[in-house]
Amino acid sequence: MSRLQVVSGKGGTGKTTVAAALALALATEGKRTLLVEVEGRQGIAQLFETDALPYEERKIAVAPGGGEVYALAIDAERALLDYLQMFYKMGSAGRALKKLGAIDFATTIAPGVRDVLLTGKACEAVRRKDRGGRFVYDYVVMDAPPTGRITRFLNVNDEVAGLAKIGPIHNQAQAVMRVLKSPETAVHLVTLLEEMPVQETADGIAELRAARLPVGRIIVNMVRPRVLEEADLELVETVPRSSLARSLSSAGLGGARRGGHAERLVDPLLAQAEEYAERFALETEQRAVLADLGLPLHELPLFAEGMDLAGLYQLARNLRGQGVS
Ligand SMILES: Nc1ncnc2c1ncn2[C@@H]1O[C@H](COP(=O)(O)OP(=O)(O)OP(=O)(O)O)[C@@H](O)[C@H]1O
Ligand SMILES: [Mg+2]
Repeated sequence: MSRLQVVSGKGGTGKTTVAAALALALATEGKRTLLVEVEGRQGIAQLFETDALPYEERKIAVAPGGGEVYALAIDAERALLDYLQMFYKMGSAGRALKKLGAIDFATTIAPGVRDVLLTGKACEAVRRKDRGGRFVYDYVVMDAPPTGRITRFLNVNDEVAGLAKIGPIHNQAQAVMRVLKSPETAVHLVTLLEEMPVQETADGIAELRAARLPVGRIIVNMVRPRVLEEADLELVETVPRSSLARSLSSAGLGGARRGGHAERLVDPLLAQAEEYAERFALETEQRAVLADLGLPLHELPLFAEGMDLAGLYQLARNLRGQGVS
């Protein structure tokens, strides 16, 4: 199992939710995971119902069996200070620079350099060891930018190459790329069973593969429950209305008066079945497109009442059940 798990996907499909569930799943039974976000949106804090995350790794959840999930909101400017401190031992000088506004360029610098600071911080957490020589985190899960930007975001080497051909930024980019292009990393894509996100997933995978970035799994989120089996769907087309009315009536759905009221339920019921059949056909089509991409495919259910912490733990269990962690 790769130690850096990157979660991307079309906007709004559940990247943050799935990344959090994955971090919980991977922490199960005594492991320690770090869940990082890189876009300054505080989505993780919201999800875990805690205050905004500072730029500091802090424990946000306990996984089943005693594992721990830590979280960190990576910020490019702070990552730059870390970086300066690491390479130039200029901790307090860095703080002074910050006060002077001299390093405002952390936010205005070339996007490639910005990205390498963010991915660099995540890679540092992946490789960090304690005094006993053990990895501090068993896994790092990244709530990453969306599919449209993920390849550029991760492919920092190419982005930075044009800007810094030698020197520490160049070396940092090389070190980051060694981790990102190795089996130590897996990039997962979250999608819905709808045409647009599925198409975006297919395009995203092609781009990642072209950049030789390791694609992991496809996670279909918010899958609605199956209400009718195929045989039932066929029956909908052929069942006589009168027998449907009788069944409704004998199931007590027609009110007291024999026949009459149940008859009124037949049309809406058939309309609903038809709608479901249509949706089911579309979903089947999209499942086939996803299956063709040749990656492990997983499905997570839609929680019709919305997400909460209990739902998050349920998704984590579900992922474990599917062998994702
Ligand atoms: N399986 C699910 N069932 C029900 N609601 C869900 C599920 N997964 C995610 N959601 C909800 O869908 C919304 C979008 O999820 P989330 O924020 O994780 O998506 P995202 O891809 O990170 O979005 P963004 O692109 O804005 O970062 C949230 O309100 C979340 O609670
Ligand atoms: Mg998000």
